[in-house]
Amino acid sequence: MLAPEMNQIKKMLPLWLESSKRHCSNGKVASYIPELSKSPIDALGIHIVDSNGHSISEGDAGLSFTMQSISKVFTLILALMDNGEEAVFDKVGMEPTGDNFNSMLKLELVQPGIPFNPLINAGAIAISSMIAGKDALEKSERVLSFLRLLSNNSSLNWDLDVYRSESATANLNRSMAYFLKDNGVLKGEVEHVLDVYFRHCSVSVTCADIAQMALILAHNGLNPLTGDVLIPRRYVQIAKTFMTTCGMYNASGEFAIQVGLPAKSGVSGGILTIVPGRYGIGLVGPSLNRKGNSIAGVDLLQSLSQQFDWSLF
Ligand code: DON
Repeated sequence: MLAPEMNQIKKMLPLWLESSKRHCSNGKVASYIPELSKSPIDALGIHIVDSNGHSISEGDAGLSFTMQSISKVFTLILALMDNGEEAVFDKVGMEPTGDNFNSMLKLELVQPGIPFNPLINAGAIAISSMIAGKDALEKSERVLSFLRLLSNNSSLNWDLDVYRSESATANLNRSMAYFLKDNGVLKGEVEHVLDVYFRHCSVSVTCADIAQMALILAHNGLNPLTGDVLIPRRYVQIAKTFMTTCGMYNASGEFAIQVGLPAKSGVSGGILTIVPGRYGIGLVGPSLNRKGNSIAGVDLLQSLSQQFDWSLF
């Protein structure tokens, strides 16, 4: 049986989703990764799972999409588990940038020339170089296994069309990675590091997978359904803090005011968000606003958060 708030969500969600969907036509699907331009601009779906494993799915929740920047939360956690805090934050900062997610402006402007945080592209590329493994494939397979464990879905895999499409067109990320190598930030061969990065961005999921991963973060690394500790609490604390300050890029401040929950978006239109101690939420809406976040998705999360008073602030 659903808990009272879940029951209320179930009742209201179809209405709110339809209302948020109207915003889809005001945004654009990402096209700088050519394969992403095929995403359905009108789609909007959401999956919410609670601590008892009860869930609600609405709209296009079954749509497959690639994790893109949502994966950066989990590569950060894996790099922390592999290397510890000190080594990771020797190469990546802890501050929001106020710039676009793919900007390399501050790398040259602000010394010591390390990326400002692990969730912007430059920071996530640096993090990719810290994943343990003998070569790019082993590193990528370790990331994939970790995502399979957290999502409780052993069939998660890379979308190789999106992976190839990004790798073939990533001139900006490539230039950033070579710049980072020159600054002594990247370990290993640049093309191998980029391969790990493109692969984790291309992991194909549905809203239910994202919601399940989010549920583990909502419980500070513990799977509430099995009691297994999958991530040390401290590393979840770090990840949640970055999600709050940088997870929606240079719209993180506005999102904190309007929604007030730790979240991470991706250019395929996915958003992972958590209601701490209570829910994991996965959402997809490929039509993006000017900051690269799902335009209808942000609107829907705003309705839910305001209606149920979920803001942490
Ligand atoms: O590197 C990129 O540009 C993409 N693979 C990921 C960027 C992304 O998802 C930014 N999100 N809003």
